[in-house]
Amino acid sequence: MEIDRTRGSRMTEDRRTEARTLERWVRGWPWLDGLGNGTQKVVGAAYDAIGTPGWLLRNAMHGTSITHHPLHPALSDVPLGAWTVGVVADWLFVITGRVPAVAGDLALVVGILGALLAAVAGLTDHHDTVGFEERMATLHGLAMVAVTAAMIVSLVWRVAAPAPHAGAIVLSTLAWLGVLAGAYVGGHLSFGMGTAVNHNAFYEGPADFVQVGSAQDFPDGQMRRVLAGDLPVVIVRRAGSLRAIGAVCAHAGGPLDEGKLDGDVVTCPWHASRFKFSDGRVVKGPATFDQPLLSVRERAGIVEVKLAYPLR
Ligand code: FES
Repeated sequence: MEIDRTRGSRMTEDRRTEARTLERWVRGWPWLDGLGNGTQKVVGAAYDAIGTPGWLLRNAMHGTSITHHPLHPALSDVPLGAWTVGVVADWLFVITGRVPAVAGDLALVVGILGALLAAVAGLTDHHDTVGFEERMATLHGLAMVAVTAAMIVSLVWRVAAPAPHAGAIVLSTLAWLGVLAGAYVGGHLSFGMGTAVNHNAFYEGPADFVQVGSAQDFPDGQMRRVLAGDLPVVIVRRAGSLRAIGAVCAHAGGPLDEGKLDGDVVTCPWHASRFKFSDGRVVKGPATFDQPLLSVRERAGIVEVKLAYPLR
């Protein structure tokens, strides 16, 4: 199916947070868009070229499979922690001489390996961002690539020059400050802009059955969007029985009722995440969280739904 890549960003031009310094800066850097779009093309082509293993790897890197939670934020803790330990060890070595030089070197290596893995997950997530969100994600990635490159240069310097290699230590310390700045941008993506958060996290949903229509409102094989309490719900009738899941895609809020239905599975029209109607589970990313699942019943020609389990 045709994926609408112009939609999906929650960022709109009328955002009240326009005055935020970071966002104001990034709005003035349209050159990031070309870099972001080019990166997305390369990442998409690379995954497509690998075929089915690429599909599986992509699911794992998003966090759709295995972790069932966004993977990049978890992986990024490794370089952040290792490089912080490394900077402390380096300066304890320089100032006190009571910590061996190799301690900082080893932490640097661990951080670089963690950063490379986090970069794969981050690029996978970046592939499904659009608009201003994509531009911010590109800045975050650019910052992290730059600091990782600086860390690699510091490592090479340390190998080439015996301790105390003060220049290499200063370089990795400056790069560590860059890591903090890059992490700030990444944090803003999640906490300020809602990237990779569960877009159903703030709904309550009906704990008891509520009426959402009459039986003839739900013809066989067609999806219908209704409101159950505060929760948008998509209902489908298949082989006579009704199934219902949340209509707001957990990934970025896409309208699942406008997606493509294929048997028990609906494909989101925005970035092609796939969810099962039978249990709400996500079977293909970029979404990592399942859809809210609802119980459905028909009584005297009236259709009623309630949450199959609490959302909060
Ligand atoms: S909004 Fe991105 S896959 Fe649904």
